[in-house]
Amino acid sequence: MAAIRTEALTKHYRVGFWRPRPYVALEGLTLSVSEGEVFGCLGPNGAGKTTTLKLLMQLIYPTSGSAEILGQPVGDVRMKRRIGYLPENPYFYDYLTAEELLQYFAGLFGYAPAERRRRAAALLDQVGIGAERRMQLRTFSKGMLQRVGIAQALINDPEVVFFDEPMSGLDPLGRREIRQVILQLRERGCTVFFSSHVLSDAEALCSRVAILASGRLAGVGRLTDLVAFQARGWELVVGGLDDAALAHAKMTQLVVRDTPLGDRRYALEVPLSVSPERAIAELTGRGASLVSINPLRETLEDYFVRQVAAAPHERGLGTGT
Ligand SMILES: Nc1ncnc2c1ncn2[C@@H]1O[C@H](COP(=O)(O)OP(=O)(O)OP(=O)(O)O)[C@@H](O)[C@H]1O
Ligand SMILES: [Mg+2]
Repeated sequence: MAAIRTEALTKHYRVGFWRPRPYVALEGLTLSVSEGEVFGCLGPNGAGKTTTLKLLMQLIYPTSGSAEILGQPVGDVRMKRRIGYLPENPYFYDYLTAEELLQYFAGLFGYAPAERRRRAAALLDQVGIGAERRMQLRTFSKGMLQRVGIAQALINDPEVVFFDEPMSGLDPLGRREIRQVILQLRERGCTVFFSSHVLSDAEALCSRVAILASGRLAGVGRLTDLVAFQARGWELVVGGLDDAALAHAKMTQLVVRDTPLGDRRYALEVPLSVSPERAIAELTGRGASLVSINPLRETLEDYFVRQVAAAPHERGLGTGT
């Protein structure tokens, strides 16, 4: 069974005071996320990620289309006990301590006092703020509040969790810790749906991703299968490459671009038509030594820039509306 399904999910806002016009926040999103999947929803600012999550949480209502979580319509109250949600900018009552806040949320789910304390303590440890559990939230940094938000989303051992930008506001160490939390959720069989505009977060975690651009689904699948992110060649960094060997490699089209890094080191671009094994063999055969090799692929940032350039501000419903 799919953990999450959306069917032509659409949200239009009316913008403008005198002549309100429809504005497309999300258009015809059809998606299915399997149970146990870690699914990334990627896209630049304004792409429709938060809109999608809010529609799934029923914080806003669709213009048309529908959505289901765990086989139930998104309005189902019993289903809501089985899910967790981290909003984009979590805001909590400032004068509570982290521990009090989490115990309060545990109380909303009906856990007994001892169980509330146990859950709060375990989750605060898990998100790395166990030592600060008795501090008031008003003294917390953005990254610390983000962690409280993640702990809050997990208080009921949810089967499906929705995280809107779980890594935002976190330093590199914090990102790694939250990645670890998501991987633990995956091991437990929990379905995770999160939004991000950072490709590397998705690469490290997701089985599949959806890419949104200007409210529309621009691609869905495994990152490695999405055409836009297929390797377009290889970057080889080599040392000890002399001028004659470089000239030969360029002449034979083994290398289509070279960037000198000094001291006879070069970053070389090998086209997809040449196998990396052959390139390495030929270059090392002419005295060079291999330092590193990496696939060259379009970054998510490049991809967004292209998408935005291709469809600039295409957010209305066509002319005459
Ligand atoms: N209440 C609203 N009224 C009018 N337009 C809105 C409203 N809420 C959102 N939008 C518009 O819908 C579009 C999608 O917004 P959304 O918040 O879903 O983007 P996002 O992908 O989450 O972006 P970000 O990466 O910045 O969080 C944006 O262009 C936004 O301006
Ligand atoms: Mg958002």
